[in-house]
Order: sequence, then C-alpha cells, then structure tokens
Amino acid sequence: MLVNTSESLGQTVGVLDALHCGAVLIGPAGVIVHANERLCRMMRRPLDELLGRYLWEFYPPEETQRLQDEFHREANDEVEKETTLPCAGGEPLPVIISSRPLDHAAPRAGHRILTIIDISQQKRVEKRFQQQYQEVAKLSDTVLEQALDLKHYSRSLEEKVRERTAELHEANMDAILMLAVACEARDSDTGAHVLRIKEYARILAQELGLSESESEEIAFSAIMHDVGKIQVPDEILKKPGPLTTGERQAMEFHTIAGERILSKRPFFDTARLIARYHHENWDGSGYPDRLASEDIPLPARIVHLVDVFDALTFARVYKSAWQQSDTITEITRLSGTMFDPHLAEVFRALLDAGAFEEIISLRDSPGTFDNI
Ligand SMILES: [Fe+2]
Repeated sequence: MLVNTSESLGQTVGVLDALHCGAVLIGPAGVIVHANERLCRMMRRPLDELLGRYLWEFYPPEETQRLQDEFHREANDEVEKETTLPCAGGEPLPVIISSRPLDHAAPRAGHRILTIIDISQQKRVEKRFQQQYQEVAKLSDTVLEQALDLKHYSRSLEEKVRERTAELHEANMDAILMLAVACEARDSDTGAHVLRIKEYARILAQELGLSESESEEIAFSAIMHDVGKIQVPDEILKKPGPLTTGERQAMEFHTIAGERILSKRPFFDTARLIARYHHENWDGSGYPDRLASEDIPLPARIVHLVDVFDALTFARVYKSAWQQSDTITEITRLSGTMFDPHLAEVFRALLDAGAFEEIISLRDSPGTFDNI
C-alpha cells in the first residue's frame, strides 16, 4: 500500500518490498508513506497502523523529542546507526537503521528510505559472549588470586624449610663439636684445641686458594680429626712417658677408628679422609697407610700441619708449650718430611703476617668456644 505517492515512487516501493530486511519510505513531512511487510512483522503492527505516522511516535514518550531532533538534523545525510525498534507488546528489537535521502528531483525529493536490520540474534550471541567473558575473567581473577596465594604460601614454606635446614645444620654442627670435644677432653682439659684446629685449617685452606665453601667444609671436618681416640684406653692416651710398641699401635689405630666411627654420608666424606690420613707424612713415613706427597688428601695434609703446630704451641700432659719461634723452626725442619713443603711455606707466611694471633690467644678456658 502506498499513501500519497505518485506512480513514479512505485518502483522505489517495489524495491523496498523485495528487500530481505525491514524498510520504510518516509515522506517529505517526515511521516511513513510505506513500510514493507518485514518491517510490519518486526514492529508487530499492521501496515495501516504505521502509514501517515511519524516513526518516533511508536517509541516511549521520553525518547520522542530526541528522535525527532535527530530526524531533522540528519534529514539530508546518509546515516547508519545501531539502535532499537519499538515492538507492540514486546521488548524493543535491537536493529541497525540505515537512512538515506532519495533524489532531490521531484517526485522523490524530500523522501527518505530507512532500511532496518534485525540484529537481535547477534546481540544475544554478543551478550552470551560477554557473560562468558565475564565468567572467564572472574575465573581468571580467582585463579590469579589462588596462584598468588600459592606463590606466597610456597615462599613461606621455602623460608620455613630454609630456617629448619639452618637449624638442623647448626644442631649437627653442635653435635659434631660435642662429640669432638668429648673425645678431645680425654687428653686435654677442654675442647679448645679442636676449635683452634678448625680456624687454622679454614685460614690455611683459603690462603691456598680454596673456595669459601671448601674451606668451611675442611674447617668443620677438622673438628672430628681425632674422634677415633675414644677407642684408645686412658692409660695409653694419658701416659706421660714414651709408649711401648703395642701402646703406639693402639694409639695409631685412632685414625682407622675415627674413619669407622664417622657416618658414611657424603656430608662426612672429608671428615673421614681427615680422620684416617691426618698422621700421614709427606715422605711416606706416617700412618696408617704410609701414603706420600700428593697421594695424601689435601684436607688431611692441612690438618696434619695445623694439628702438630697447635700441639707444640700448647702444653699437653706429656710436654710443656713451646715458644712460637721454636715451633716455627720445627715446622720448617719438618717441611718436606712430615709436612707438604708448600703448605708449610704458606703457613709460615700466614704466621709471620699475624693471621693466627687471635686463634693462638684462645687458651683452654671456659667460654673460649664462643669467641670462634
Ligand atoms: Fe690424631
């Protein structure tokens, strides 16, 4: 049906009717002069209800003024916009409206064509996507929060494990020290000897170019060098005079006993080497295996030297303390026979430089352990 249109608009109307989208022809006065069947279905209104009326009349009253203004403003423009189309008895329909003026020449002058595409399905899909996106985003937030919680928890656990490991290490070190002191205390009044050995060994190892961790390992392992003495009877260990052959053999056995007493765990590898070989001499005249030169493990060579030095420097039940100058002379004399000559040289240089003064000052008195 066509209202107030000339025959020449008939072709336009025919085109609108053939379109697969809603279409409406607006006259020069702004009223609807034709609407195709698809548009009537979209608006749920018969054609008679639409003809001769303004399109904005079908919108809610609060929108009519704005739409009317828009219509006049865009009267001569080609416009495309996403909006809604009012539907009788239903929700507004999401649509894209394209508005285009017809020719300026009569009889189509002042007319406009509006094509209206229903995009409700796309909107539903879009809405579903948005919901899914929001759910995913929410989930992501939750996952992220949980990941952060886990990370925090993991750090806290790591910290606790580190603290616990450090505590265990300290406890192990204390246990080792107590064992060493208990053994040492049988032939010297306190365990200060082993603590001095530990510090001499650390300084000498570092001076020889070993890393801090290697030096530390040799140092704490040195503490245990004489644990095998626990198996040497008191009457031999504390005998002031010379030992018989049998007694000497029993005394020398403390090296093998020490190696056997110490745990087979890798943590004690160096300690076992030191316990067994700390009485081997550079010229092969030592015990228990008569190893020579570099066949003697370096940690054992180090402890051998510092052990003798400390034994000479401090008094024992069977001897008085030597003067330091005499001790240095003795170390030099034994270099190449008892001691690794290179180690003896480095040790002497350290001694000359005063590197051991603080350690030497540690006498066998209570409280000295805390000073090292
Ligand atoms: Fe020993």
